[in-house]
Amino acid sequence: MSRHETAIRIRAAAQDDLGILWDFLAIAAYEADIAAAQTVPFVAAHLAGWQRSEDFGFIAERDAEAIGAVWARQFSPDEQPAFYVDGQTPEVTIGVTGAARGEGVGGGLLSALLAEAARRGVGLCLNVRHDNPARRLYERIGFRLVPGSAVPNRVGGTSFGMIWAAPR
Ligand SMILES: CC(C)(COP(=O)(O)OP(=O)(O)OC[C@H]1O[C@@H](n2cnc3c(N)ncnc32)[C@H](O)[C@@H]1OP(=O)(O)O)[C@@H](O)C(=O)NCCC(=O)NCCS
Repeated sequence: MSRHETAIRIRAAAQDDLGILWDFLAIAAYEADIAAAQTVPFVAAHLAGWQRSEDFGFIAERDAEAIGAVWARQFSPDEQPAFYVDGQTPEVTIGVTGAARGEGVGGGLLSALLAEAARRGVGLCLNVRHDNPARRLYERIGFRLVPGSAVPNRVGGTSFGMIWAAPR
């Protein structure tokens, strides 16, 4: 049976999924592996102390193997996140394994995250590098670029802030 015949399952991320989430944080941050991601405090901050009371996320699995993950974390301004909106707009981190990209896994994960954010009555924000094709996915699902949010990123390019507002 080819892997495409096996259904993708999306489930809520739990406290003991930290190891899995680290795999996807390395992917989301374009680091070579977990060890490299752990050496960058700005990156590691996205999972420090997981699962905080306000953290929520989802994991996509195929054949019981994790192929993607998304989560939202409410930073405080003193943690100096790259893009801070307010105390009701947690930041999204998302990654899908290279082999599973372009099949709708990222879109499915984001849909689950948006539904949970709406249920909690919070918005969502994220930070995206100017040349990342993921920007199209974010726009398709309802995120909007924030004018004036462009900042130099840690790899010498520019990143933008994007926001999704929960429907009223
Ligand atoms: C972004 C990402 C999570 C999307 O997951 P996915 O399962 O491929 O997404 P879907 O199949 O639901 O949607 C496809 C969309 O993803 C984006 N995408 C496709 N390939 C991509 C890639 N290599 N890198 C980033 N985004 C990509 C495009 O917007 C694409 O839409 P398009 O077909 O209109 O061009 C995944 O590509 C990934 O992990 N990329 C590397 C890490 C990353 O960029 N994370 C986000 C940091 S802000």
